[in-house]
Amino acid sequence: MAGLVNWIDQRLPIVNAYRKHLSQYPMPKNFNFWYVFGSLAMLVLVNQIITGIWLTMNYVSSAEGAFASIEYIMRDVEYGWLLRYMHSTGASAFFVVIYLHMFRGLIYGSYQKPRELLWLFGMLIFLVLMAEAFMGYLLPWGQMSYWGAQVIISLFGAIPVIGDDLTLWIRGDYVISGATLNRFFALHVIALPLVLLLLVVLHVLALHEVGSNNPDGIDTKLPKGSQGDEHQTQFTFHQDYTKKYDIIDSIPFHPYGTVKDLIGVAVFALFFSYVIFFAPEMGGYFLEAPNFEAANPMKTPEHIAPVWYFTPFYAILRAVPDKLLGVAAMGAAIVFLFLLPWFDRCNVRSFRYRSKLHLANLVQFTISFIGLGILGSLPVTPIFTLLAQIFSFTYFMFFIVLFFYSKNEATKPLPKRVTYK
Ligand code: HEM
Repeated sequence: MAGLVNWIDQRLPIVNAYRKHLSQYPMPKNFNFWYVFGSLAMLVLVNQIITGIWLTMNYVSSAEGAFASIEYIMRDVEYGWLLRYMHSTGASAFFVVIYLHMFRGLIYGSYQKPRELLWLFGMLIFLVLMAEAFMGYLLPWGQMSYWGAQVIISLFGAIPVIGDDLTLWIRGDYVISGATLNRFFALHVIALPLVLLLLVVLHVLALHEVGSNNPDGIDTKLPKGSQGDEHQTQFTFHQDYTKKYDIIDSIPFHPYGTVKDLIGVAVFALFFSYVIFFAPEMGGYFLEAPNFEAANPMKTPEHIAPVWYFTPFYAILRAVPDKLLGVAAMGAAIVFLFLLPWFDRCNVRSFRYRSKLHLANLVQFTISFIGLGILGSLPVTPIFTLLAQIFSFTYFMFFIVLFFYSKNEATKPLPKRVTYK
């Protein structure tokens, strides 16, 4: 066996890569539950790809056949209902996991130097994921698929000069039609998943180049042996890694990280199964009621609301009375997230050792984001619009105030070693 492994490794260092990126990857030993969401995101991605392939076997991507083919999958295909619910619940689960994964990065300052590129890849993943979910939602060709797409595509029409041509180009027709459905299908099942996979690989490579951050936000690459050498022989780290990392702070990913992540997978599977088997529509949040009716271009639903994961950004769009400015504000909300590593000029990462002002700012940002999410799913009323305007303002203020106070922030002293009980 060792001979075979050696033979392969001399020609293509797979085993070496497995050690470097998985089994021997130095994992800070103070990782807490916030650190399970990266591997959970990978799990959900795999779930989406596999269930998606099997759905494609019976789905028909035409305006005449799409709605009926979903009904066929739900009623006649063996376990079709399970595949479909795993995929539709998976879409929402993806965003739950990703929002928590991003929130972890936010509170522990994982976007700060030297992890800016990792954050940028993450944000690109987030953008592509939103496009992927938006296009997937048109495929069942229900009322909300049709009218949701109508609202979002028409936003591009607000862009000066090129707006009209751009919407025509996206739709491939003067209205949303079978041509639109077909191209969204092509992008949803092959183009965007490929981009997502590539970005996830780059994301993980960028992480492994600089190493993981941790809840204390301190560098784990301190000189070896600063707390005595007796711990250093406990683990058989890959030799390159023992040179580079301090194993008093870090432990090998396998078995310590794999076991931790497996607990995350078990808890996630419980919630995931509960939704699939007992509440697949999740009260209209995961699958909206109007989507059980076939798309009808002659009948606009009374209340068009995007799926829950888009609502924070949708609320910002609606809070601005002017359409073009609304689109610009929504775009800026995402651009600001991209630029977070440059808004934050503090050299302490984790909120544990940062000022009370920073903590208050994080709390207000979280409240604003959740508030916007709730408001974006409700019908427009004057009071809700006012609230959405206030939350949009506080959303942007998070970044702007951060830029000013973070430079000379009154931070607490950092521990020399990661804190672990
Ligand atoms: C398909 C989506 C994604 C996958 C599969 C994924 C995967 C991972 C994995 C496996 C890790 C290492 C384990 C961990 O720290 O949890 C990680 C770390 C990280 N991810 Fe993602 N990620 C995704 C999306 C994102 C997004 C949208 C962002 C933010 C914009 C992001 C930001 C980060 C950061 C900052 C880290 C380092 C955290 C630290 O070391 O403290 N990721 N990601």
